[in-house]
Amino acid sequence: MTILLETSDLGFRYPNGPWLFRGVNLSLMAGQITLLTGPSGSGKTSLLYALCGLIPQVFAGEYIGKTVIKNLDSRQWALPRLASVLAVVFQTPQLFFPRLEDELAFTPENLQWSRQRMTRAVEEALAAAKLEPFRDKAPERLSGGQQQLASWATALTAMPDIFLLDEPFSQLDPAGKQLLRDSIQALAAAGKAIFLIEHSDPGLDNLNNLCSLDKGVLTRRVHHKIWG
Ligand SMILES: Nc1ncnc2c1ncn2[C@@H]1O[C@H](COP(=O)(O)OP(=O)(O)OP(=O)(O)O)[C@@H](O)[C@H]1O
Ligand SMILES: [Mg+2]
Repeated sequence: MTILLETSDLGFRYPNGPWLFRGVNLSLMAGQITLLTGPSGSGKTSLLYALCGLIPQVFAGEYIGKTVIKNLDSRQWALPRLASVLAVVFQTPQLFFPRLEDELAFTPENLQWSRQRMTRAVEEALAAAKLEPFRDKAPERLSGGQQQLASWATALTAMPDIFLLDEPFSQLDPAGKQLLRDSIQALAAAGKAIFLIEHSDPGLDNLNNLCSLDKGVLTRRVHHKIWG
């Protein structure tokens, strides 16, 4: 099985903070969905930052071990280039452009795709998230759930091999949740590696790995022991 992202004895603490996690050994494989749960403040989002290179490249602190993304240490990746191999959906939608369509075009533009390829990617992402009617709208004027779908659409535009999703279901209505479930499962079936943070059972059929982070330790879990 192909490992797309792997951590070795990964540990991190913010300046003057406690160790949020230590000794984390996690592998994200092609075609697999990994779900992380754990109490608020346990460090799940910080662990995601340490998977996608923001820790230690952007957030300072004490960092031990390493994350290897597609055979290259995360510290050696230029962050803008990482967009070609992984996409992050942040816990709070990060949307900056005056028009949704421009928001979606941002990553393909950065990756210097041809106009034709970029247009196709944006159209496909808008369709996948059922956001075509809102293409000209300012993302900040969208509802919370629509913004979350817009974040999902931005992740889809570059169609990388790795998706890191931080509570992407939290503001979605039942139809949005089903859309996202179907989309995640289709991506996994197509060989993408998915890492998902959630507080409750997202209802995915094919969860391959389930783990929880609590008091600095990442533990493998069994589905029925967490959610019954
Ligand atoms: N930039 C930062 N600098 C210092 N401390 C931080 C920073 N970001 C988060 N923390 C602290 O690190 C701890 C873990 O935060 P984190 O956001 O990773 O938790 P979480 O498990 O994702 O929580 P939630 O379930 O509420 O999203 C918290 O105590 C938080 O206050
Ligand atoms: Mg969080």
